[in-house]
Order: sequence, then C-alpha cells, then structure tokens
Amino acid sequence: MKKAIYTTYGSPEVIQIIDVEIPSPKPNEILVKIKAASVTRADTMMRQGIPKFGRIFLGLFKPKNTVLGTGFSGIVEAIGSQITRFKIGDEVFGEKLFGNGSNSQYLCIGENELVEKKPKNISHCDAAPICDGFLTSYNFLKEHAKIKEGQHVFINGASGSLGSAAVQLAKIMGAKVTGICSSKNIDFVIALGADEVLDYTTIKLNELQSRYDVVYDTVGKLSYNSSKNILNDNGIFMTPVLSIQILGQMILHPQKVKFEATGIKKKEELKSLLKDLISLFKQNQLQTHIDKTYNLEDLKYAHQYIETGGKVGNIVVVNL
Ligand SMILES: NC(=O)c1ccc[n+]([C@@H]2O[C@H](COP(=O)([O-])OP(=O)(O)OC[C@H]3O[C@@H](n4cnc5c(N)ncnc54)[C@H](OP(=O)(O)O)[C@@H]3O)[C@@H](O)[C@H]2O)c1
Repeated sequence: MKKAIYTTYGSPEVIQIIDVEIPSPKPNEILVKIKAASVTRADTMMRQGIPKFGRIFLGLFKPKNTVLGTGFSGIVEAIGSQITRFKIGDEVFGEKLFGNGSNSQYLCIGENELVEKKPKNISHCDAAPICDGFLTSYNFLKEHAKIKEGQHVFINGASGSLGSAAVQLAKIMGAKVTGICSSKNIDFVIALGADEVLDYTTIKLNELQSRYDVVYDTVGKLSYNSSKNILNDNGIFMTPVLSIQILGQMILHPQKVKFEATGIKKKEELKSLLKDLISLFKQNQLQTHIDKTYNLEDLKYAHQYIETGGKVGNIVVVNL
C-alpha cells in the first residue's frame, strides 16, 4: 500500500510517497481501507517542525513520527480477534494521532481509540476532517467557553477549518456570532450562520464598540493583550494555536486565557464530544466545507496550498 512520510523537517518537497506492506490488525484493532483523509494546517506545521519549541516533543533534529495525516474515513476491511464494536464492511471515521498516519491507503486503529461509525448521510470526504475543525472547536466552545444562550462570540479566522466549524457550533449553542475573515469570504461566513462578519484587513480592534463574552482566535493572529479591550468583564480569550506569548499570558491570566491541545485530552472525553457531533451531523445541523481535494501522490501540493494561509474550510486526500 502507499503511504505518505517525511523523514526530515522542511518544505512540502520532503514528503515522500512510499510502498509498504498493508498492516495486520492486533487483536484489539481494526484495519481500515481509507477512502478520504484530512490534510490540515497542523500537518504542515509538524512537517516543518514549527513552532521550534514543539520539537522537544516531535523530535529535536528529525521527526520521531514520520507518518503524515490524522483524520480519516473509510471501510473496515479486517478485524482483530477481540473486536466487538465493529464488523467488516462498517463505514467508520475518526482520528489516528500517533503511530500510523491517515495519509495512507490503510491504517490500523484500536477499537477504543477515536473511531466511530460514520453517519450514513455524510460522505467519507465530509467525515474525514471532523476531528480537526469540529472536534477542536467544539472542545473550546463547550469545555472552555461553556457557551450559554445569548452570549456574543468573536471568531477570528471564521473561514478556516476550525473557524467554519466554530461559527456553526456557536450558533447551535445559541450564541450571537461575529465572524472575522477577509472580504472574499464574507458571503461564505454569513452562509455558515454568522450574525455579522467583519473584514480583518479593514477593522481596528481598538475601535470596535461591541464587547464580547468570548474571543476565539482560531488562527493565532491575536493575543489576550490585543483583544482585552473588546472583552467584557468576564470575557475570555481562547486560541488553539500555541505560542510562547500565549503560554506567558495563560500564566498571568489563567481564568481569562485558554489554550489546549485537544488531541491529547482523555480519550473518553474526546469520544463524548465526538458523539454529540455525530448526532448533530445525523440531524443535518452541521456541514463540512471542503475547499479542495487531492490525490495522495499530489500531497505536497495540498501542503503548499494550505501554506498560502487562504484555504476555506478543509482539504482532503481522496481516491486512496
Ligand atoms: N489546539 C488544537 O488542538 C488544534 C487542533 C487543530 C488545529 N489547531 C491549529 O489551529 C489553527 C487553525 O487551523 P485551521 O485549519 O482552521 O486554519 P486555516 O484553515 O489554515 O485558516 C485559514 C483561514 O484563515 C483566514 N485568515 C488568514 N489570516 C487571517 C487573519 N489575519 N485574521 C483572520 N483570519 C485569517 C483565512 O481567511 P482569508 O482567506 O479570508 O484571509 C483562511 O480562510 C492551526 O494553527 C492549527 O495548527 C490546533
């Protein structure tokens, strides 16, 4: 089978597509024939080994984990002897964080890891990125912001993967949503349900009159200090993008500044959040936006496109 790897940090050119044996599932694993796999901003950052302090975990001089891709959707092709939740032929989706990557034709995943049956009303392409934008943003909005009906949420990067998910989720949770993107994406963010959309190329935060309960900066372009004048007295600043600056602000203002690497939360907590999302997808209340799809052989072009900073929603590898 074909899989994407990188053995050194660098540009998209370091990505190699290699041929390896199809893995065999252990007794507690299923083998999934992948139909669609996400390609994310986080993948491009891991490939580059940035932020550099992240190399303490990723590998100081070269990546420890050389496979690419986390989110996947596909069909169960074989099962280990202890499997009870799945059978051959089931359509499943989820996220494989460590070990064998999802930018691959097959992967093995433990049945108690982040893998669930795919809602029948959505495609593999729409399911593969759910654990990136939707799961991350739902964790921030539900667990950190604890959004309540009528609260006002400011979502920066509203046209990205996390942002497009956050706009839809915050509306479902009863919030008033102000989405921030550039002018070319305003119609898209309004169609997602935002009550108001502002263009980051023209607004000045210190001139805004509104006060928000939550500033959720999905793209790491703001900080608590730059946003505090638009937060109300109990307002919080949250970002999924780690930086030394954010770590410092979290230490100084632990109640006001929130960051979490969602992927390393307890499995049971992630599974519970994912079950809520599955239910919302089944009710057609959420929609994954796919910007572009690529073949596995063209993965480096997907990474190049993501690095332009202008993707709208999600990127998916198909025809695996
Ligand atoms: N902590 C976690 O658990 C976790 C999990 C997943 C991802 N992440 C991180 O979350 C971040 C966001 O990922 P993503 O895939 O959602 O991002 P993304 O899709 O790459 O974001 C692209 C979008 O950002 C918008 N944008 C670019 N510059 C902007 C600015 N200055 N202000 C506002 N919007 C701007 C662009 O809109 P325009 O084209 O209109 O400019 C574009 O639509 C990444 O850094 C990723 O590593 C963290």
